[in-house]
Amino acid sequence: MKRLLLTVFATLMLLPAVADEGMWLPSLISSRMKDMRLKGFKLTTEDIYSINKASMKDAVVLFGGFCTGEIISEEGLVLTNHHCGYDAIQSHSAVEHDYLTNGFWARNRQEELPNEGLWVRILVRMEEVTDRLAAGATREELIAEAVKEGKNYRATIEQMYYGNQQFLFLYQQFDDVRLVGAPPSSIGKFGGDTDNWIWPRHTGDFSLFRIYADQNNEPAAYSTENVPYRPKRHFTVSTRGIDEGDFTMIYGFPGNTQQYITSDAVKYVQHRSDPMKIDLRTRRLEIIGKAQEADPKVRIQYAAKHANIANAWKKWQGEVMGLERLKTIEKKEAYEARFRAWAADKAEYAHLLDSLEAAYASTADWYYMQELRNETIGTIELWKGAFMRLSALQSDNKQITPAQIETFYKDYDAEVDKQLTVAVLKGFEEYCLEGAYPAKLKTLIEKHGGVESYVEYLYRESRATSLEKGLEANEEQWKSDPALELYLIIQPEMCRIPRNLSNVEAIEKWFRPYLKALMEFDPQRAFFPDANMTLRVSYGAVAGYEYADGEYHIPHTTLDGIIAKDNPAIYDYDIPQSLREVYAAKDYGRWAVEMEGKRTVPVCILATNHTTGGNSGSPILNGRGELVGLNFDRTWRSTMSDIAFDPTICRNIGVDIRYVLFVIDKIGGASYLIDEMTLK
Ligand code: ARG
Ligand code: GLU
Repeated sequence: MKRLLLTVFATLMLLPAVADEGMWLPSLISSRMKDMRLKGFKLTTEDIYSINKASMKDAVVLFGGFCTGEIISEEGLVLTNHHCGYDAIQSHSAVEHDYLTNGFWARNRQEELPNEGLWVRILVRMEEVTDRLAAGATREELIAEAVKEGKNYRATIEQMYYGNQQFLFLYQQFDDVRLVGAPPSSIGKFGGDTDNWIWPRHTGDFSLFRIYADQNNEPAAYSTENVPYRPKRHFTVSTRGIDEGDFTMIYGFPGNTQQYITSDAVKYVQHRSDPMKIDLRTRRLEIIGKAQEADPKVRIQYAAKHANIANAWKKWQGEVMGLERLKTIEKKEAYEARFRAWAADKAEYAHLLDSLEAAYASTADWYYMQELRNETIGTIELWKGAFMRLSALQSDNKQITPAQIETFYKDYDAEVDKQLTVAVLKGFEEYCLEGAYPAKLKTLIEKHGGVESYVEYLYRESRATSLEKGLEANEEQWKSDPALELYLIIQPEMCRIPRNLSNVEAIEKWFRPYLKALMEFDPQRAFFPDANMTLRVSYGAVAGYEYADGEYHIPHTTLDGIIAKDNPAIYDYDIPQSLREVYAAKDYGRWAVEMEGKRTVPVCILATNHTTGGNSGSPILNGRGELVGLNFDRTWRSTMSDIAFDPTICRNIGVDIRYVLFVIDKIGGASYLIDEMTLK
């Protein structure tokens, strides 16, 4: 069977691409090279990924485990998104030096700020280990063996195609990563939640960090003795711009897609999961939004929370709309009918769709309840506060520091949390499946005469409602705190759930043979493994799209568009005074371009690359592998590409690198950072 699979893969390599769909493993990128070169890529497979010489992969970093970044100088300068560096920027901010509001620019190496707990990883190599695992080696053995090869090496083994293939990813991790620069939020987050997932876009979503290493250029914990890391490879920056139709390539760490799920799983997402989560988040956002309007302090405290809740909320709405528009369920059903007919006389495969269907039927409710819990009771902050404070008092628990507790309360308002708790407890009850409501919770709430009066009691009696209130409390008192009582009731029900319903083991085990069968059934299809936070290449072109009948959206925006949106009365559109002044003086320096018949500065670009969450901060490269932009978003209508990609509408959004340079130079006054880059 293994050989057959290999034959199938070999056949795939000869086929032309259908669209710009796909997130390809860099070590197997040769299978796409013909198509890539046809579309404008000028380099070779070895330039993208090589274990023998420095290649582009040496300049791409997994940033903190949730974003991508890229190295852009010989001295370890790293570019990523503002929203990826946000926590680091926020943690260094205080009223006297508010870097979120005003931006931050280290004037020299001494001013670069260390960030405890922030790391980056650079891929050493990736290697298929399917055979070794089949031959009896354990994952632990393979990992232990690999990490011995170098200093601070980390390894993971990741499944491709639901486990038909296993790959070992070996990384070198650097733990001294310092903040170098960030624009004011009014540039880095310009447009805020209003423009999030939207094109046309005008966000300067970038920040700069630097990797530090020891004297031998090896990873080391933070130390004043450390020096800037000298990378094997850094990206050259192209200031020549990029036009509609030009080749683009994204190199980064996409997090999660589910391209091969059956119609049952799409139904689950489109009809059950997304609508439930969207509705529950609408309620929470309304409560937070109202409180923010009423109180400027709450507006700041809940800004990041609101942004987080709203981000996926908006994405899911686009996903549901996109799946409906694309008729993904119907298309998958038709595809499955053809598969069924093909598989009917193949004993190994004939039962697969029925097995999958049965597995979904018996598992979906469980997964739904887990998702419901996470979106409701799981979001209550009061019990998190109580739990943190109890843990901090327990001597065997050194995880929670007083600083963490202070940070928690800095952004906590008990009145808002209380209203949210009423809403999520009611939401939980409303969406809870028959018979699944925890008996103990029911008893507790009934004892207090219903949700409202229970929550009244909870927030009156708990010591976790403010930092001050619980200062004197000891371990015993925390243990009997009403917030802990709630926690203990729900905690046994809560667990880390697989990232998608289809990854629940009872279902996933059928996907393994199903994927194998699909590759035989549909050899024309350009199979690529689902995103799983491993390094991938996607490629496409700069492209606009038809937004509505007669309304074409061009793939560029400019500084003039920022000025048109500028409005000091609207928080999301209030640009820094310095940017107004630069615009008034037309002081664009070397960043000026002629676009759309005017002298301006380019801001954002739109392209057809297949991306998802985790691709934030990924380099957008031209056909010569030069950095032309920085990925940070998709359009919300294209977010169904996590399940089904539609080349006519799916677009990723990035900042034009020239806007990044313009902001560093003209707003940050930090042109010395540009001097260490390689510009072309
Ligand atoms: N939508 C982008 C992503 O999925 C950007 C999120 C950060 N920006 C925001 N306004 N919340 O992560
Ligand atoms: N902003 C997303 C991120 O943080 C990328 C947008 C997307 O989902 O494509 O990774």
